[in-house]
Amino acid sequence: MSNVVLVGTQWGDEGKGKITDLIAGDFDYVVRYQGGNNAGHTVVHNGVSLALHLMPSGVMYENTVPVIGNGVVIDPAALVKEMTLLEQEGVSCKNLKISCNAHVIMPYHKDLDGADEKRLGKNSIGTTKRGIGPCYQDKAARKGIRVQDLMDEKIFRLKLEAALAQKNPILDKIYGLHTYTVDEIVEEYLPYARIMQRYMAETTQLLNDALRAGKSILFEGAQATMLDIDHGTYPYVTSSSCGAGGAAIGTGVGPMAIDKVIGIMKAYTTRVGGGPFPTEQRFPENGGTGEEAEVGELLCSVGHEYGVTTGRKRRCGWFDGVIAKYAVDVNGLTDIALTKLDVLSEFDTIKVCVAYEYEGKRYDYLPMQQSVLFHSQPIYVELPGWKGVDISGCRTFEELPENAQKYVNYLEEFSGARISMISVAPERDCTIIR
Ligand code: GDP
Ligand code: IMO
Ligand code: MG
Repeated sequence: MSNVVLVGTQWGDEGKGKITDLIAGDFDYVVRYQGGNNAGHTVVHNGVSLALHLMPSGVMYENTVPVIGNGVVIDPAALVKEMTLLEQEGVSCKNLKISCNAHVIMPYHKDLDGADEKRLGKNSIGTTKRGIGPCYQDKAARKGIRVQDLMDEKIFRLKLEAALAQKNPILDKIYGLHTYTVDEIVEEYLPYARIMQRYMAETTQLLNDALRAGKSILFEGAQATMLDIDHGTYPYVTSSSCGAGGAAIGTGVGPMAIDKVIGIMKAYTTRVGGGPFPTEQRFPENGGTGEEAEVGELLCSVGHEYGVTTGRKRRCGWFDGVIAKYAVDVNGLTDIALTKLDVLSEFDTIKVCVAYEYEGKRYDYLPMQQSVLFHSQPIYVELPGWKGVDISGCRTFEELPENAQKYVNYLEEFSGARISMISVAPERDCTIIR
């Protein structure tokens, strides 16, 4: 098996967990390369649905080594809780490797995340409030605390002292929040550190040695292209490089080691939090009326579009071909895994956005300016549906209703990358491999 990056192509929640879980058993290593427990990846196993936040989906296979790469930010409490829950479900975490260079989310990162969102008011990003942005801020500012720092109490105390000298005045004077002492954080974090120490590794060396030995690696992206700090709808993005390029940065493996990039694409679009979303079919509570609100509500209820991490209702809309083409380019997609095609079985006709229009000008590609994207109107083509046909039992492309085949072929041709997998239900085996 070659080395593969699996990446979200929209605004997250495309079904990365399901597809990773489907193919992870074919790999020796499955590595998360960015993000933190803002992610929520669902894997359904023997009828049981499990939500993974920090743990790479490869944990479900005994012979696959799950690795948390250097590009990830780790909340130790969340990690230990997730490991405990997995062990309770009979999923062993014994093979886990954690990069000694991954950054650690501190209590003040979470406080600052929440406080900053409050300050932004109606312009808030709608973050998961897990402390992701503030932790990456400290990393970029070269003031972060890494996993290796937790392992030496003396160093941990020194770094914390320096951090708190800056954070406490901000917490207190700007936000009127509780401040921290070094002792209270050390007391909370040291027990987690003792657990994490068992799994800590030099993962860059480990992965490169594995490549030399002919082993295979699956790089599991979290979030998605349109949430990428550089290539997404900035500032309505997360704070890491979610795209395929992030796989090399977040693991220490050279880009030439990557053979294949699979983009996970939902057959329609969803987004959690604020920011532009041209094909959104607004819910009544967000101003949608008539057909728009009906479509939005139907996609949400049939697709069970509620956040795995925060439980928030996901904004829903039609498939956006402009974004699909962009994701193919930005990630160098070799393949697309199209997910949740079954959800569209509820519609007479299905719309696909093929371009945008703004002030009389047509945009076939993503407009450079944020303000243009914000106010763009989608230009749709309308394709016939396959209403009422249950496609969840289909296992070959030919078994799909003719109009479903045509829909898939249309998206493939429009996007410019091969749709080599089609997911028709949450379970691992409910997938068509083309
Ligand atoms: P991720 O963050 O990209 O891993 O995606 P999430 O797990 O947050 O959200 C995807 C949701 O869709 C989960 O509830 C999955 O179980 C579910 N799902 C995945 N693939 C399919 C599919 O083909 N059909 C349906 N109906 N649900 C799916
Ligand atoms: P998975 O991996 C969907 C969104 C948040 C918010 C923005 C910034 O399950 O696809 P953050 O807490 O990261 O600073 O929030 O990014 N967001 C996600 N949306 N799926 C995710 O992960 C997300 N992770 C973050 O809603 O708009
Ligand atoms: Mg998710």
